[in-house]
Amino acid sequence: MCFRVSSAQWAYSTNMTDFNKRRMIEEQTLKAKFDKVSWRKATEFDWTRMPDPTVRRQLRMLATKDRVALSDEKYNEIHHLISEMKDAYAHVRICDAAASRCDFDLTDAQRFMAQTRDAASLRHTWLQWHDAIGPRVRNKFMRYVDLANQAARLNGFSDASEAADTVYEDARLQDELAQTFGRILPLYKELFAYVRSKLYVAYGPDVVRIDGPLPAHLLGNMWAQEWSRIYDLVVPYPEFDKFDVTGELLRQGYTPLRIFQMAEEFYTSLGLKPMPPEFWRSSMLERPKSREAQCTASAWDFCNRIDYRIKQCTEVDMENFATAHHEMAHIEYYLHYSEQPFLFRDGANPGFHEGFANSILLSVVNPTHLYRVGLMNSNGSETSYEQNINFLMLQGLRKIAYAPFAYMMDQWRHLVFGSPDGVARMNSDWWSLRLRLQGIVPPSRRPENGFDAASKRHVPFDIPYVQYYVALLVEFQIFKSACRATDHRGPLHLCDIYRSREAGRILSEVLRMGKARHWKEVLAVLSRGGADGELSAEPLLEYFEPLFDWLRTANRKEPVIGWMSKREDFALYRPLVGATGARIWMNYRFLFVLFVIFFII
Ligand SMILES: *[C@@H]1O[C@H](CO)[C@@H](O)[C@H](O)[C@H]1NC(C)=O
Ligand SMILES: [Zn+2]
Repeated sequence: MCFRVSSAQWAYSTNMTDFNKRRMIEEQTLKAKFDKVSWRKATEFDWTRMPDPTVRRQLRMLATKDRVALSDEKYNEIHHLISEMKDAYAHVRICDAAASRCDFDLTDAQRFMAQTRDAASLRHTWLQWHDAIGPRVRNKFMRYVDLANQAARLNGFSDASEAADTVYEDARLQDELAQTFGRILPLYKELFAYVRSKLYVAYGPDVVRIDGPLPAHLLGNMWAQEWSRIYDLVVPYPEFDKFDVTGELLRQGYTPLRIFQMAEEFYTSLGLKPMPPEFWRSSMLERPKSREAQCTASAWDFCNRIDYRIKQCTEVDMENFATAHHEMAHIEYYLHYSEQPFLFRDGANPGFHEGFANSILLSVVNPTHLYRVGLMNSNGSETSYEQNINFLMLQGLRKIAYAPFAYMMDQWRHLVFGSPDGVARMNSDWWSLRLRLQGIVPPSRRPENGFDAASKRHVPFDIPYVQYYVALLVEFQIFKSACRATDHRGPLHLCDIYRSREAGRILSEVLRMGKARHWKEVLAVLSRGGADGELSAEPLLEYFEPLFDWLRTANRKEPVIGWMSKREDFALYRPLVGATGARIWMNYRFLFVLFVIFFII
């Protein structure tokens, strides 16, 4: 079934015809039915009483798929709602700042946010996108929350966000997330204060308050989730470059195929697996000329232990060079756990696949490695202090800036799914969390009945988010562990694991386990000799240590490290006093009416 569905999805993604779309939907529908049947069969057994722990775990994975516990009618309804929300999201079009064109999709809008430096048009685009998507899906989302919670309760959970956490099989998950986030926050606040000082210079006091939170539209990204696109505004040493090898790739005549061959050589140099022949035969490594295809890069496991493919519309530049290594890391994971039973052919937890793939990039994009593969003239230890700080700044804009956003998303879901009036408060809760955790405020007052969280794809698409926060931690934990095996000396950000069989051994041990063991055991393998298997922010902090020191010095004159919130910030999203009054009136109206009736009688 998995093979059939992946084949049909592949056919459509690489050749977007109506025929292929219909076939894909047919297969997906069959799969949904199949899932329901296997769930029913699994629930005929009491998984809690299975003596074999491996069987018990697999049976539990099958039996606690929560949505299938709904009646057929409601099961269909929730699927229908999600696909309607996806459709609405995909079809939003907005007008550009001059209103000369009104066919901007999200990619156009996102490109605009990344490149434009005019506060008014950034604000316009931000507002257009948020005002367009929220109202279209709000009612559907509210019904979806209701159904998802019903499903969770049928499985014995208090709400759907609690049910979603159970894939981590870790009762202390939320504590560990909060604890690691507390460790990252001081670093984030330094980065935040530094970036604000630069934005203050660029946009002036009317747009940026010198000690306040930052408005969401200035950070080069629709959700202010990663800030690398405003690198040019905040670069520490403008006279020094960052490490960009695009020019060198072009000069040396690289092709998409050669980039992938080079990525493969990275993995085989560690003693990991080469790509199978089917990979080279069937992957889509360039944008097809004669048909339409979805160009988002992705790595595919066809579940038959034979077919593994990458789909990427590769251009020859540094970003695609990194992405090729990233996608191939997913294939390495697939290949390594292919001998596991089907249900264990997965990352150790939902953050592991992404964490592993990104940990490889920490090695691949750093100057030590680029020098070794002949894409840079000077190696890591020869590069100047200034260049290194520039590089760490760029990495920090990607990764440190991302931590609070990645953490915040599912904290918000916990509020929406977990409290009785969650959906009524979902917009003010969204902004109150963003202000508290990220220091971000909307560019202007948001309506109480708005739905700004819907601007982020994962919300209408029903995709959990905490995995990205876990992945961020795991990325640095894996990297640190591989670098320790390599016997790397010097700053962590210059470590390259290329050609290290020792690093390869520890990685392949981890990859082979797939999901067959609890992820804490997998982390324990990684921290061999070190701490026990826990999520930890320490390797990330070690990586950014030189930047942290630099920021502390650069921020000496800043009035506030982090942000000070004022009433005017809360006023951007808190219900107006009048509105609160109305709500109290609604609640007491009933009593009041009784009162009046009493008097009339
Ligand atoms: C694309 O799909 C159509 C079916 O809709 C098929 O006839 C055609 O051969 C496919 N093209 C390629 C290049 O695979
Ligand atoms: Zn990935």
